[in-house]
Amino acid sequence: MKLVVTDTYEQLSDKAAALILAQVQNKPRSLFVLPTGATPLGLFRRLVEAGKAGHADFSAAIFAVLDEYAGIATSDRRSLCGWLRRELLDPLAISDDRILTFTPHGEPQVEAERMEHALAQNGGIDVAVLGLGPNGHLGFNEPGSAFDSGCRLVSLTPESIRSNAAYWGSEADVPRTGFTLGLGTLLAARDFVLMVSGAHKADILARTINGPASVDLPATIVHLHPNAIVLADRAARPSKAQL
Ligand code: PGA
Repeated sequence: MKLVVTDTYEQLSDKAAALILAQVQNKPRSLFVLPTGATPLGLFRRLVEAGKAGHADFSAAIFAVLDEYAGIATSDRRSLCGWLRRELLDPLAISDDRILTFTPHGEPQVEAERMEHALAQNGGIDVAVLGLGPNGHLGFNEPGSAFDSGCRLVSLTPESIRSNAAYWGSEADVPRTGFTLGLGTLLAARDFVLMVSGAHKADILARTINGPASVDLPATIVHLHPNAIVLADRAARPSKAQL
């Protein structure tokens, strides 16, 4: 695991963008896994800017959505794929055939197998970009998820339901289950980038980095991946002098 600490969130976003832009330049038909959440927004802004300015060509790239709520309509604006489309994929004019996503109301086993198959058919994941959950989750891989888990339907934890309530109006409205790429699916990615920003992530990041790899803290998978980079800003990873 390689740890890179930047002074600011803007620099963190610059570094992440540089990685993605180099990847798509070297291999235009790259398969990227992208997360939702606040952390990647700066990265997405940079990718959209680069695409619109003609500095990057995403026309052959493929994008897989890390996770999705189950049981909602595909067109629901609160779907995670809908969010990713608005923030990144639509501004970059990525066509539907290059977006790999779960069908929220699909039959769970069929959906899980379809997604694993689609990733394999497209040559496997080149770069998996992840955010760090407050409890160490990656996507909907909550604590206890096996490191060899595949794509599947999971129950959301009360913590995830609470933290997603803002997007849904109330806790009662948040779907109770969701689809996620599995930890084993992510472990097979050629490159693995965990982005972490903000003082509220400092404790969980310290526990992630200190390890050891344990299913109690899914993000400790960074110790198992041969090519993992943890990108953190100074707020999330204060130097000893600042503690
Ligand atoms: P965040 O979400 O980027 O909004 O902090 C990360 C997560 O909970 O997975």
